[in-house]
Amino acid sequence: MSVPVLTFFNNKGGVGKTTLVYHLSWMFPEVGLSVVAVDLDAQASLTAAYLDEDTLENLWEDEAAPTTIYRAVEPLTRVGDLMEPQLIEVAPQLHLVPGDVALASFEDTLSDAWPHAMDDKSRLYRPFRILTAFWQIAQLAARRVSADIILVDVGPNLGAINRSALIASDYAVVPLGADLFSLRGLKNLGPTLRSWRESWCHRLDHWGYPDFALPQGRMVPLGYIVQQHGVRLSRPVKAYDKWVNRIPGVYHESVLRDSTTADTPSQDEQCLATLKHFRSLIPMGQEARKPIFHLTSADGAIGGHAQAVQDAHEDFETLARTLLQRISQNAPKDGHDHQP
Ligand SMILES: Nc1ncnc2c1ncn2[C@@H]1O[C@H](COP(=O)(O)OP(=O)(O)OP(=O)(O)O)[C@@H](O)[C@H]1O
Ligand SMILES: [Mg+2]
Repeated sequence: MSVPVLTFFNNKGGVGKTTLVYHLSWMFPEVGLSVVAVDLDAQASLTAAYLDEDTLENLWEDEAAPTTIYRAVEPLTRVGDLMEPQLIEVAPQLHLVPGDVALASFEDTLSDAWPHAMDDKSRLYRPFRILTAFWQIAQLAARRVSADIILVDVGPNLGAINRSALIASDYAVVPLGADLFSLRGLKNLGPTLRSWRESWCHRLDHWGYPDFALPQGRMVPLGYIVQQHGVRLSRPVKAYDKWVNRIPGVYHESVLRDSTTADTPSQDEQCLATLKHFRSLIPMGQEARKPIFHLTSADGAIGGHAQAVQDAHEDFETLARTLLQRISQNAPKDGHDHQP
């Protein structure tokens, strides 16, 4: 039985992926779930949100131990096998597989392995081990701490690292900004997910050994989250409305290959949330190394900020519960996956 993997994905940068993974990783434990967060972005900004610089320096400089995602996969770039990662306990029900800037150098190994997964059957073990390394590592980590859900943060691109991350994902959530760039990116996203899913299914069929646990590459799109923080305050509201109201049509066409009658995201069942611009709470949270909904007056959250902290708690709790509901609605019919 595998632990469900939920990845926040968009090839457009700066749409709030890392901020979402970070905050939800703190919120899921509050609604009763134990979380493993995996940082698969070579920028490692999720890891930097949890850990101070001294801790990071120690992790990254320890070349002998599997202290980061890269150290755990690095033997695969030579003749070795992946290693079980060391986990960081951030809070009682929140563990992290730390990211690593060095992860970028795994991209070539993943690209080379991709065509070899269709080679002669006697030579498949190695390319499959490499292509599924992220999934194996995430599952090992989740089993060790009895986690209910794995949350994955990735960088904004359509490269081999993200392809392996998505192969490892049961579910995908798409954070979106209301602007031309986000919509352009969204048009590529659906076809890319479909192509990765289909190519992985071909490889699974070719592999053909049913008793060996492999990710199924379901990457079921659970919906999108509209981000308001990217909106320039100087820009007229009309421009925001113009772009935001195009999201439902483009999402349905690109990702679901269907059409919608929704004129706005609020009418569209695929819209999981519209996240506010949290303004000064965000830097306050980064400074205190806390989710914004845990900020207190000692962190500077006084006056109007205290109400904003409560509102943010409510927003993230609602989002976490919505995601759980969508996961259970989209659970595999064969019941093989452990459901959170
Ligand atoms: N709801 C929000 N309100 C205000 N600021 C936000 C919000 N969400 C994210 N931000 C800020 O926007 C910036 C981009 O967010 P974030 O790093 O989470 O995006 P990302 O999609 O992970 O970016 P990348 O593609 O570079 O990994 C950050 O400075 C973050 O603090
Ligand atoms: Mg990010």
